[in-house]
Amino acid sequence: MTQRRKWTAIPGLFLLAIGAVVLSAYSGASSSQGNGPEQPIKFPHPKHAGSVAKGGLGLNCLYCHNNANKSADVGMPAVNTCMGCHASVTGTTEQGKAEIKKIVQYADYAGMGKNAKPIPWVRIHKVPEYVHFPHVRHVNAGVTCQSCHGPVQDMTKVYQYSSLNMGWCVNCHVNGYDPKEGQKAAGYDSVPPAHYSGGVPYGTPGSFAGIMTTGATKPTSASDSPAQAPGAPSTAATTPSSERRRARYDCAACHY
Ligand code: HEC
Ligand code: HEC
Ligand code: HEC
Ligand code: HEC
Ligand code: HEC
Repeated sequence: MTQRRKWTAIPGLFLLAIGAVVLSAYSGASSSQGNGPEQPIKFPHPKHAGSVAKGGLGLNCLYCHNNANKSADVGMPAVNTCMGCHASVTGTTEQGKAEIKKIVQYADYAGMGKNAKPIPWVRIHKVPEYVHFPHVRHVNAGVTCQSCHGPVQDMTKVYQYSSLNMGWCVNCHVNGYDPKEGQKAAGYDSVPPAHYSGGVPYGTPGSFAGIMTTGATKPTSASDSPAQAPGAPSTAATTPSSERRRARYDCAACHY
């Protein structure tokens, strides 16, 4: 190889290497999809966030994950969020009672919280440090939790539903997102929520079927909004659905 040829080969090899790395991130060879570890307390989402029809309490996801629509990171509910109910709800089954007792111990209820400790929940979903993922931008754009996390309200034990790899992110950013898809993922597609008052059959394009569009009648109060069903962030009601929501997909959007 001549000196000149060698020098032109180097950038070529460099590009190849970058290409391979990007491709592996894109298809997620190292994805931890499906991972669902044991938790320090057997917390059942179906009991809390599951629909009332299925015997759940129908709590909104934001009741516990109350930073999802405010900040980049969601974080875990504080033990006091649990104690709001579990100071008095002690459980009915033997197993339930034993698990709830653990909450009371973490909260140090007996010692008035002097030695309270956060519950050491095992983190499941995590993107690498060099990836910028702002929850708030997605939640406020009407992307339902279930579009990305799957039907958590029915999961006895939470597991990573989506790959979270680069191809998965970019795919939605390029193709765009229609809140109706999220409604479907959230399990409300053709089932009108109890308080649906849209005036047109639920799911009619251009109407607000849990999704607000220009010209459609607004829900009269927050509690009338179908978005109050578990999983649907209340802000979904202000998202226009006539157009797919597209997002930036230049490298700097997610990698600063
Ligand atoms: C009563 C409080 C509560 C409600 C309501 C609730 N969660 Fe959770 N969530 C938790 C707790 C506690 C954990 C940690 C234990 C576990 O993984 O089960 C958790 C874990 C998670 C995780 C995994 C976090 C990780 O480590 O990556 C996801 C995702 C999640 N919840 C989504 C949801 C969604 C979506 C809803 C609404 C359908 C919801 N949660 C409703 C309390 C709640
Ligand atoms: C666009 C996809 C997407 C949507 C929508 C989404 N999440 Fe997430 N979620 C993720 C990703 C990606 C991570 C990992 C983020 C990271 O590592 O910084 C994550 C992490 C989490 C975690 C663990 C965070 C922690 O700090 O331990 C919880 C809990 C969670 N999400 C709950 C929710 C809830 C509740 C909603 C709806 C209100 C929601 N997510 C909506 C993609 C999403
Ligand atoms: C809005 C009230 C409310 C909140 C907040 C709440 N729970 Fe519960 N939880 C309940 C009710 C009601 C039951 C059913 C108790 C029964 O079986 O009688 C229950 C049951 C449970 C059980 C037992 C399940 C079983 O197998 O019987 C566990 C464990 C539990 N909750 C953990 C938690 C944790 C951890 C948190 C905080 C992240 C939390 N709960 C927050 C109301 C709540
Ligand atoms: C289901 C669709 C969907 C998925 C999956 C998704 N996003 Fe998004 N993302 C959106 C939408 C819609 C917006 C636009 C929000 C807006 O317009 O305000 C957005 C906005 C963003 C923004 C803000 C961009 C800006 O304009 O500054 C970042 C950063 C981002 N997403 C990162 C990610 C990353 C990282 C992942 C994967 C871990 C991901 N997203 C997965 C739909 C998605
Ligand atoms: C919508 C968000 C998003 C955009 C846009 C994006 N990336 Fe990524 N990128 C990610 C995520 C998420 C990961 C982590 C993937 C994983 O953990 O499997 C990643 C990982 C990577 C990695 C690390 C691969 C590895 O295996 O270590 C490289 C390199 C990379 N991206 C380059 C790029 C380049 C170059 C662009 C522009 C063409 C780009 N990214 C645009 C979300 C994005």
